[in-house]
Amino acid sequence: MACCSALCSPKFLLLFLLLSAVPIAYLISLEVAKPATHVYHYHSTSWFRECAKWDDLNRRFLVSFIDGGIGQVTVPNDDPDAVLVEVPVVKHVDLAGNASLGLLIDRPRNRLLVATADVKGNLYSALAAYDLSTWERVFLTQLSGPSDEKSFADDVAVDAEGNAYVTDCTASKIWKVGADGKLLSTIRNPLFKAKEWYKNLVGLNGIVYHPDGYLIVIHTFSGKLLKIDLAKGEEVKLIEVAGGPLTFGDGLELLSPTKVVVAGNPSGRLVESSDGWETASVVGKFSGPRHRLATAATVKDGKVYLSHMVGMGYPKKTHALVEAVFSA
Ligand SMILES: *[C@@H]1O[C@H](CO)[C@@H](O)[C@H](O)[C@H]1NC(C)=O
Repeated sequence: MACCSALCSPKFLLLFLLLSAVPIAYLISLEVAKPATHVYHYHSTSWFRECAKWDDLNRRFLVSFIDGGIGQVTVPNDDPDAVLVEVPVVKHVDLAGNASLGLLIDRPRNRLLVATADVKGNLYSALAAYDLSTWERVFLTQLSGPSDEKSFADDVAVDAEGNAYVTDCTASKIWKVGADGKLLSTIRNPLFKAKEWYKNLVGLNGIVYHPDGYLIVIHTFSGKLLKIDLAKGEEVKLIEVAGGPLTFGDGLELLSPTKVVVAGNPSGRLVESSDGWETASVVGKFSGPRHRLATAATVKDGKVYLSHMVGMGYPKKTHALVEAVFSA
C-alpha cells in the first residue's frame, strides 16, 4: 500500500474530486439544460449509436449500432414529448465484432443499405442490404479484408440505377457496388487525399447522391467538399465553399437540391449552392448538445434531425435526436 501515501493524501483526494467533478457537473448541466429545439429521446440498450435515418412510410427512425446491428425507433402520431424505445431489428451475428455505420433507405428497392466495418483494426469492410419489410438480408458484399489495405466503410449513397457508393474514411476511396450487390469498381482520386498526413486519419466520410447525377462527399479532417460527376466518367472537382472549410464534417443529408446539411462539430451546418454545386456557401449553423457528438443528419417532415454518437443517463441509456434550426 506504499503508493497510497501520496495518492490518499487529503490534498490529492480534494484535487481528484475537483478535477472529476467539474467535467461531470458540466455534463450534467448540459444534460439538464432545456433544449432550444425539439428533441426525440429514446431508450436504448447501449451507449453508442452512429447514424439515424427517418423512414417516413413506416413512421420510424432506423438507427445503426456501433456495437453492430440495426434498431427501429417508432414515432407515435400524437405525443411529441413521449420518450421513444429502440427495438433491435437486425442482429448481424455473422458480422459480430464489426460496427454498423452509415445508413441509406433505398426506397425504390425497399431496402436499407448499411456500411459495416471493423472499428479497431480496420481489417474488414462490407456493405449489407436488408429488406425494409422483413429485415431479411438481401446481400452482404465484402469490400475489404485482412489482406487488403486498411479500410473503414463509413457511409453510403445510392444513384438512380441502384448503384451504391461507399466511402472508405481510412484509405479515402469509394467503392461502387451494383444494385445486385456485386462490387463493381473502386474510385480513387488525388483530390480524395489531403496534403498533410494527419488530415488523412479521417478522410472521405458523409456522401449523398444528387438527383442531377452526381455525388457530394466530404473529407472530414480537411473539411473539403467534393463533387463527383457520374455522367462525366466520375470526374472529381473541389467545391469551393465560402465560409468553409467544413472541418469535422461527418454525415451529410440533402435538404433540397440546393441545400446540404453537414453534421459534426459544430453540430450542424447548412450549405447552399446556386450553381449546381460548383461553388457553395455556409448559410447557417446550429449548435446542439456537443457532448453527445453529432454524427448524422436526417430530414423528417421538412425538419432536420441530428443523431448523436453518445447516449447518456442511468439506469436507462437515452439517446437524442435533436432538431437543428439554423441561424446565420
Ligand atoms: C467482422 O466480420 C468478419 C466477417 O464475418 C469477420 O471475419 C471479422 O473477424 C469481424 N471483425 C471483427 C473485428 O470481429
